[in-house]
Amino acid sequence: MEAVGAGIYGTLGVAVGVPALRFLLAPLRRAGGDAAFLRAAPLESIPAGKPTRLTIQAAHRDAYMQHAVGPVGSVWLSRDGDQVRCLQVICPHLGCGIDLSAEGSAFACPCHASAFDLSGRRRFGPSPRDMDELPCRVSDPDEQGVRWIEVQYAEFQTGVPDKRSLG
Ligand code: FES
Repeated sequence: MEAVGAGIYGTLGVAVGVPALRFLLAPLRRAGGDAAFLRAAPLESIPAGKPTRLTIQAAHRDAYMQHAVGPVGSVWLSRDGDQVRCLQVICPHLGCGIDLSAEGSAFACPCHASAFDLSGRRRFGPSPRDMDELPCRVSDPDEQGVRWIEVQYAEFQTGVPDKRSLG
């Protein structure tokens, strides 16, 4: 009889414990970095030659909270024909928003004067690394024939020389 009771409790423990453990560990698995590509803008809306700042919209999750679609961050998009490049707006020094210079020929951080060329390479200032590049791509045409620039949005730790994802 004791063996039967132990078997029932053992089965119940596994039935309850495994899903509970998966729920508790879910944020850690998401931190592994398989972020989805998010639609940023129609390809044709981005002028060639001059970076365009865009806010990325998405439904997102913080730890255990699911949020409705809203802004998750901003990026600088550059386009050369069908080639696109996406740079994180957040400065790798201490996290201020990086601006485009008035003449559009370089990036500059207004907080402590880090400067970057248009490819995001650090030119001078206290930033410990180049601007953070994000994976981006151009989609196939959708039902309306629109090709979208899609970005795998991510944020990274500031103040360190190597690019470490915040998950
Ligand atoms: S936060 Fe950009 S240079 Fe300091």
